[in-house]
Amino acid sequence: VVTVGIVGLGVVGGTVQRAFADADVPTQGYDPLLGIGAIEDLSSCPAVFLCVPTPSAPDGSHDVSVVFSSVGEIERRLADETVIAVKSTVPPGTCDRLAAMYPRLEFASVPEFLVATAPMETFTGPDRVVIGARSGKTAALLADLMSRVAPAAPAMVVRPIEAELVKLCSNAMLASRVAMANELAEVCRRFGVPWPKIQGAVGLDRRIGPSHLTVTSERGFGGACLPKDLDGLIASAAQALYDTPLLRAISEFNLAIRDEANSRLEPASAGDGSRPERDLASAP
Ligand SMILES: NC(=O)c1ccc[n+]([C@@H]2O[C@H](COP(=O)([O-])OP(=O)(O)OC[C@H]3O[C@@H](n4cnc5c(N)ncnc54)[C@H](O)[C@@H]3O)[C@@H](O)[C@H]2O)c1
Repeated sequence: VVTVGIVGLGVVGGTVQRAFADADVPTQGYDPLLGIGAIEDLSSCPAVFLCVPTPSAPDGSHDVSVVFSSVGEIERRLADETVIAVKSTVPPGTCDRLAAMYPRLEFASVPEFLVATAPMETFTGPDRVVIGARSGKTAALLADLMSRVAPAAPAMVVRPIEAELVKLCSNAMLASRVAMANELAEVCRRFGVPWPKIQGAVGLDRRIGPSHLTVTSERGFGGACLPKDLDGLIASAAQALYDTPLLRAISEFNLAIRDEANSRLEPASAGDGSRPERDLASAP
């Protein structure tokens, strides 16, 4: 069995490490900010999962500086053809940019769909594993590794830019559902009907489904991922000269309803259809 390297041991990297350890796959973690591991330890790893932060830059784009700096830091210690599997959420084209900078290494995009409130269950039981690889050999190695930690999940092999887009489009869809539920809740309230009375029956339609329809007392979507990934997709699309009118409306609408909810002195009262269920609205 190969040793798996993990760079960045936060919510995602810590879960990746525990899941491989539980599957009896040896791991080497490296997180200089947490004082864990050393770069040299990664030199024997044929695959390194990159799980470093990609926060929002002031213009809304994903700040990928830590992705590039951490790869720059470790690359000299890695053997030829080491696979760097990028789990961080990054703009489309990031893996291909890294591959052009470091042709000695193999870069792949294996986006993460875990939910921070139940990281292990959602990491090991995703609806699908998406592997964006530039070669069949890299795809096979990653499919084998992922099947050890997420055995029941179907694996889809695509190009890296496609895997990067799957992650961003998925989070944009989830954000849009939360935004839509919030708008519909306001409509229902105007007719004197609390949204939860409507939500359950709407969600039972299999074409719609029940997830991400809850309106919280904070309104809209929050958490570490949905707002930043939506804004990151908007910024990436703008760089590709597409204006995303709908995505921008969702982002602006979300900010407005959250500000409004925040500024209310009293938290939302019981009769108006709100129910504090953070999990559904913020994850993943
Ligand atoms: N948290 C989630 O629910 C979730 C879900 C899916 C995808 N993601 C994405 O995964 C990525 C990581 O998210 P997270 O929530 O685990 O972040 P996190 O902040 O919990 O963890 C990041 C870790 O990286 C470490 N780190 C920072 N700079 C480093 C460096 N130069 N070298 C090595 N390690 C470094 C930090 O010390 C920290 O422990 C982000 O791109 C995020 O968008 C997160």
